Amino acid sequence: MQKFLEEGRVLEQQEVARQTHRLRLEAPRMAGAARAGQFFMLQVREGMDPLLRRPFSFHRILPEEGIVEVLYRVVGKGTWWLSRCAPGTPLSLLGPLGNGFELPPIAAGPVVVVAGGIGIAPLQELIQQLLAKGGVGRPADIHLFYGARTGAEQLPENLLEDLGISVYRSTDDGSLGYGGFVTDLLRRVVQEKNLQPSQLYACGPLAMQYHVARWALEHKVPSQLSLESLMACGIGACLGCALPAAQADASSQDHYLHVCKDGPIFGAESIQWHKIQTHGAPPTIFLYS
Ligand SMILES: Cc1cc2nc3c(=O)[nH]c(=O)nc-3n(C[C@H](O)[C@H](O)[C@H](O)COP(=O)(O)OP(=O)(O)OC[C@H]3O[C@@H](n4cnc5c(N)ncnc54)[C@H](O)[C@@H]3O)c2cc1C
Ligand code: FES
Repeated sequence: MQKFLEEGRVLEQQEVARQTHRLRLEAPRMAGAARAGQFFMLQVREGMDPLLRRPFSFHRILPEEGIVEVLYRVVGKGTWWLSRCAPGTPLSLLGPLGNGFELPPIAAGPVVVVAGGIGIAPLQELIQQLLAKGGVGRPADIHLFYGARTGAEQLPENLLEDLGISVYRSTDDGSLGYGGFVTDLLRRVVQEKNLQPSQLYACGPLAMQYHVARWALEHKVPSQLSLESLMACGIGACLGCALPAAQADASSQDHYLHVCKDGPIFGAESIQWHKIQTHGAPPTIFLYS
């Protein structure tokens, strides 16, 4: 699908968790073209500052209503500006960008979904599509592991548990659900329930994704991880969103994948995780939670 520019319009926005807003945008062309797991570059300014567009995932895609939703955390200038946009504000969208999630084949069996912090954003649309047309079986066969720093940063029950899926929550400070990392909760529950997932989806900070990737590789579960980096252009032009690829190219040199055009969805096996960890986070990589 070709990317395009669309002039959208704010319909409403609501603070749904601490510093976390859900923004409904009228953008009929984008809503008709986007897939779960793709993203778009949003202009978050009136004048020239900030100059660069910001990347956001599609949180909900509602083609019949001509609406897309964004779930975002206020972290800086652009998202602060966004949080003050009233209904009627025009906003320019560039997208849809990136590859998006693949749904499992019919009758594939239970799936595991892992969300860290605002990483829940693209996973909500994925879950809706799994419920509507994925081969998962019962809603309870979608096992969502959802971690955040504290309970106030998590989406409420009516947006998740009420879908009938199996939700396991964790917080770093123990204020909601399991006290500890979401990846520890994942290990525990899968073992206790003897779950045999057919597929794993995840979005969250890179440190979480590293542990999710290790788990998926250990358990031979096919994975689709939505990865992030700082993005200046979102269309493969600036080469600023590089991650070290697992496969060396024909000349045996290291080569790099670009999150905006090769991703943002990658299999656990396609990234040199060790390289990212041992050398610390290169400037192109931002760990957000
Ligand atoms: C493919 C993709 C999809 C994304 N989807 C979402 C989404 O659905 N919801 C959402 O809330 N965010 C999402 N992000 C992150 C989002 O783009 C950033 O939070 C946003 O660009 C911050 O803009 P700002 O102007 O508010 O912050 P800036 O003023 O640019 O930065 C303020 C501070 O935040 C830091 N920062 C920069 N990037 C990020 C980041 N990725 N996360 C947190 N802090 C950051 C900066 O280093 C700086 O310290 C996505 C990123 C990518 C690459
Ligand atoms: S953000 Fe510019 S190449 Fe990916």
